[in-house]
Formats: sequence, structure tokens, C-alpha cells
Amino acid sequence: MPAIATVVARACPATIEQAASALAAGRLVAFPTETVYGLGADATNDHAVATLYAAKERPTFNPLIAHVADLAAACRLAQFDEEALRLARAFWPGPLTLVLPKRDGCPVGQLATSGLGTVAVRAPSHPVARDILAAFGGPVVAPSANRSGRVSPTSAKHVQADLAGRIDLIVDGGASPLGLESTVLACRGQTVLLRPGAIPRATIEKFLGHDITAAPPESAGRKGAAGADGGSRPVAPGMLLSHYAPQAQLRMNAVTVAPGEALLAFGAAVPEEARKARAILNLSAAGELVEAAANLFNYLRELDGAGVDSIAVMPIPDEGLGEAINDRLRRAAAPRHRATPL
Ligand code: TXA
Ligand code: MG
Repeated sequence: MPAIATVVARACPATIEQAASALAAGRLVAFPTETVYGLGADATNDHAVATLYAAKERPTFNPLIAHVADLAAACRLAQFDEEALRLARAFWPGPLTLVLPKRDGCPVGQLATSGLGTVAVRAPSHPVARDILAAFGGPVVAPSANRSGRVSPTSAKHVQADLAGRIDLIVDGGASPLGLESTVLACRGQTVLLRPGAIPRATIEKFLGHDITAAPPESAGRKGAAGADGGSRPVAPGMLLSHYAPQAQLRMNAVTVAPGEALLAFGAAVPEEARKARAILNLSAAGELVEAAANLFNYLRELDGAGVDSIAVMPIPDEGLGEAINDRLRRAAAPRHRATPL
């Protein structure tokens, strides 16, 4: 990735405006929240989100949290049940993230939610984060602003050490007071703890007046994540990645196309017999991995919608974002375990 000049600026009205316009232009902005510094991108812009994954060097596309100004903004993205509403009213703005079914027409992009039917939402309480969200006026995805495999940053200096040369702007708002990421709860009938975080589980249980279950660890949940009740048992976040799988079989590293197959192409060298394909979409004719990542979930869904039995996927180089793209494709190609997406 070519280095870009990273501006570090103290939080002030001019910097907030600069942050909002950078986000609107699809650029990456790190900013403080009360938990840790987040690396923000326009949640509705798949290309910006792909750039974010590239900057973090994330080997997988974990679904991201859409940060919003308030409950009203969250309600435009997600469906709140009674318990979710109570939780949001009690703990927002603050370090609580709710994973909820997407609302019809939810503008958060497929890449940000890993193609899932759910979206994670959180209204942070940090004044700088709130000012940026208000000035931008839309949802902002923000994972912790560290490079993958490093610890979460709680100061602008930490962010600079990890991401200088990769992002446009770091808004310096001093140290993040909590230093621990938000607590993540899934609310889908039953409330389940997906990630312990800054709000202790006991505090939430006391408020709700009942115990909440923790999602099983990924390895334990892999087999039989669908309960005997037909699959209503929720699963840990990492597992969710195996859930969005197309109806069609995925044939990876395909260099030919069988009649009746759909083709998910990459690069300019599309096979001759591609003309036989029932449908063709090219992740990136230019062979650009950021563009390919931005298109991945949308194109998979679109080709799957063509009603084919098999989607041939051309080889994608296993470098940069290609590693995450291939990881995601392998999961989508793997035999299904009958689990219900959250
Ligand atoms: O405190 C925080 O939450 C920080 C600050 C910057 O807001 N952000 C943060 O984001 O920790 P990230 O991307 O590092 O963690 C997001 C967590 C992951 O565990 C992810 O799997 C889970 O939320 N998550 C997001 N969307 C989900 C979904 N649709 N279903 C299940 N889990 C989801
Ligand atoms: Mg993180």
C-alpha cells in the first residue's frame, strides 16, 4: 500500500469538520472513544471499509461496529426488541454494543457486516466521537485503531505508531478513559454476551433482573452450533463468519468454467469459456484487492441470486487483503453446519 501523509490534529471544531469531510470522502480517520481509539470509515461505503481492513492488515473480515450518535440513529439501522431498547436507554451513550437484526434498507454495507443479517451498533459517549458522528451525520464503523495482532490503542501516539502512513487523520483527544473495549451483547429474543468488555456482565444482569448467557467459545460452538431446538442458540462472533454461505457451491481457484456455472472473476485474464457462464461478475478487472474486497459480499449474493448450483471463483492472490478475501471465500465454500445466523 503506498504511504499516505497522516495528519495528527488536536480535537477542535476545525479538526472535527476535517474528520467529517474525510469520512464523507471515503477516507480513514482515527478518533478517541471512551473505550479505545477507533479507526473510522463511512459504514455505508464498502470501498472505504475495504481500505480500513487493508490498513489494519486484518486477516479476516470480522464484522464491525456501526457507531451512531444516538438511539434514533441506531433505529434506522437495526430492529430493537424490548430488551434491546431498555439496554440502549440505560447504557447509551456508553461502552455497550448491541448486535441486532438489520432493518430493511439498512444502509450499512455488506462488507462492514460480513454479509450477515445482523448489525452491531453502539453510541459512544466520548465528546470527540460524538462531535464527529454529529458532523458526519451517518454511521461510522470503527474497529480499534491498531494493526491486527497488536494491542488496542488508548492514545493518539499508539495509533500513530501502528497506522501512520496508512490513514488520513488521527484526531487527538487525549487518553481513552476506559481502555477496554465495549461489552458486546446480541439481542435476538434472548440476550447473549458475545464479548466481555467495559460494562461488567453483573451490571447488565442486575439492570435486566436476570442472568445472561455467554456465547460458547468458537471451538466449542463449531460443531452443532444449532441447538436441538432447530438452531436458535446464538454463537460467538468469530463463528458468525462461517454462517453467511451462499446456496450455491463455491469452487475456488477455478481456471475453467463449467456450463451452467456462474463465474466470480478477478483480474483481466478471464478464461475463454467464461462466455458459457450463466452470470459473470468481476471483483476487480484491474486486479485490485481493495476493490475486490469492497465488491466481495455484494457479488457473492448477486451470483447466488442467479439460481446456479455452483459459482466458480478465479484465483485471488493470497497477499494483502487477498488473505482475508480467500479466508472468507473458504468459509463460504466449506460444508454447511446448520446454524442460524444471528
Ligand atoms: O469499544 C469498542 O467497541 C471499540 C471502539 C473503537 O468503539 N471498537 C471495537 O471494534 O472494539 P472491533 O471491531 O475491534 O470489535 C467488534 C466486535 C467483534 O468482536 C465482532 O466480532 C463483534 O463486535 N461484532 C460486530 N458485528 C457483529 C455481528 N453482526 N454479529 C456478531 N458479532 C459482531
Ligand atoms: Mg479490536
